[in-house]
Amino acid sequence: MGIQQDIDDLLTLSRQLLQAIDDGDWEIYRQLCDDELTAFEPEAAGHLVEGMQFHRYYFELDGNAPLQSTISSPSVRVWGDIGLVTYVRLIQTVDSAGAPHTAAAEETRVWRRHDGGWRHVHFHRSNN
Ligand code: GLY
Repeated sequence: MGIQQDIDDLLTLSRQLLQAIDDGDWEIYRQLCDDELTAFEPEAAGHLVEGMQFHRYYFELDGNAPLQSTISSPSVRVWGDIGLVTYVRLIQTVDSAGAPHTAAAEETRVWRRHDGGWRHVHFHRSNN
């Protein structure tokens, strides 16, 4: 397995992760993430959140507006068992009146090789 294969796998996994978020699919999201995932994201109000419980809350909300995420300008780098994926995430949704909107957020996601695959271990998302 070469570096290009790792890069392709990390991009594919990043797309699967965003699809799970957009679909509200907790099982897929949980499988892709390490139990000790750490994160800085706007929802955490400047705090580093640790573990999965904080994220689960959003998957259990009812009546979320439909989301579609697109990875733009990705960069993937790999050092041994660590992979770093950065990109701009375009997030399409609709407001309460049904009008479509697009937001953009910078995301940095760190993956660690685990049991022959990759686990998501840290991310940082900018305000959007
Ligand atoms: N808010 C969960 C995630 O971006 O992974």
